[in-house]
Amino acid sequence: MTEPLMIRGRPPRSTAVALLQAQGLPVSDITDEHLEHFFFIGSDGSPTGLVGLEIYGTDALLRSLVVGDNVRRKGLGSELVQHAEQYAASKSVRSIYLLTTTAEAFFKRLGYERIDRSQAPPSIERTREFASLCPASSAFMVKCL
Ligand SMILES: CC(C)(COP(=O)(O)OP(=O)(O)OC[C@H]1O[C@@H](n2cnc3c(N)ncnc32)[C@H](O)[C@@H]1OP(=O)(O)O)[C@@H](O)C(=O)NCCC(=O)NCCS
Repeated sequence: MTEPLMIRGRPPRSTAVALLQAQGLPVSDITDEHLEHFFFIGSDGSPTGLVGLEIYGTDALLRSLVVGDNVRRKGLGSELVQHAEQYAASKSVRSIYLLTTTAEAFFKRLGYERIDRSQAPPSIERTREFASLCPASSAFMVKCL
């Protein structure tokens, strides 16, 4: 990348929804509280990347990671995940969990390991992504910060 990357926090709901819907990722459970811990790249009206965290004490769920089709494989996805990790650490999060059907190998490269769903802490088990929105076949992964 030749230009410095600008990652901004708290996207407008319409900005987050547009990117997620374009990739068929869940939007129905995103609350305004969640958006407080979301980050995006691009302009409000034309975002190119998004990532979100749900924070539950020392545990967090990383979710809603998406990079626009036309700007993939340039490092944006990795930058967004690393930004979310740094933010999580600044909020005293110790473990980041996630569910994915499409990007297990991508997250493995970033230090996440697959674990059994039975190892989920109760706060993560109660999230709608875990309980209902993501299929049971999703890979469940964790990274300890
Ligand atoms: C997954 C996603 C966010 C990656 O974004 P990206 O900006 O292309 O990622 P990066 O450029 O940082 O990729 C880093 C490396 O991972 C690889 N990679 C990217 N996506 C991958 C995937 N789905 N599976 C395996 N490897 C992947 C890239 O090739 C790159 O490797 P390289 O440096 O050797 O080329 C993007 O593909 C996407 O939005 N996918 C659709 C939505 C999705 O699946 N989100 C995850 C939901 S949990």
